Amino acid sequence: MELNFITMLQRSSLFLAIVMLWGCVHDPLYTPDPQPAPGTDPTVVEGPCDPETVYFQQDVLPLIIANCAQSGCHDAATAEDGIVLDSFSSILYGDDEDLVVPGQPGESELLAAILETDPDKVMPPPPAEPLDAAMVDLITEWIAQGALNLSCQETECDTADHSWTGRILPLFELHCIGCHGGAEPEAGLLLGEHAQAVTAVTYMALLEHVQQLEGYSPMPPSGPGLDSCEIAAIEGWIADGMPEN
Ligand code: HEC
Repeated sequence: MELNFITMLQRSSLFLAIVMLWGCVHDPLYTPDPQPAPGTDPTVVEGPCDPETVYFQQDVLPLIIANCAQSGCHDAATAEDGIVLDSFSSILYGDDEDLVVPGQPGESELLAAILETDPDKVMPPPPAEPLDAAMVDLITEWIAQGALNLSCQETECDTADHSWTGRILPLFELHCIGCHGGAEPEAGLLLGEHAQAVTAVTYMALLEHVQQLEGYSPMPPSGPGLDSCEIAAIEGWIADGMPEN
């Protein structure tokens, strides 16, 4: 009797090992292209930035990361449909060549997926909030301007305005709300709501997360992160007592 039990145990662990091996072979992890594609380093333009130019690094990448590269979607670890949307090279030089066709927004599948009206096909899929018109315009304009990898940081940091409506909320909308908004926000945290933002600063170390201090998961989790001027604005708002002004 006892012997039988042991054989059963041995057999079932062998079975388990085979199942696990099978799983590994048939669900290989996505391996990013080891060869960096040409032109992946951004061309850095010194401020003042041209208001007519769309700067990919500051204007487009943060919102693509926040709306498309959530974990479980188009982040490097998941690569849903083989598409990774967390950097210039993964967007421009990924497996899907027509994702972004420089100069041709109408030919670019990225935009087509965002503008799709069929709820089963639209990106991001519900319950995620659809991109708003201003975000769609920015992505369209970026592609129309040649889908370049430009970066521009204002040399002057305007620290005067760190009000909730004028500065902090727009900053969260660009960098955070794709993940921390909608019906199923990450960490249950809605950063578009003033009271929740205050709670996140007070109890969830929001500032430390955006400063990417050691021991805190970086927020946003990938991409360039907030620049020093944006972090200074959040610090200013906190120093004021986080008013809803
Ligand atoms: C791509 C998705 C994504 C973006 C963009 C993002 N977050 Fe998060 N955030 C997460 C996930 C996932 C978690 C939960 C896991 C963790 O803490 O790492 C989280 C957790 C948090 C937490 C809670 C940490 C805790 O201790 O519970 C804070 C605060 C936060 N994020 C702030 C921000 C801020 C501020 C921004 C924008 C500057 C931002 N996040 C952008 C995905 C994102």
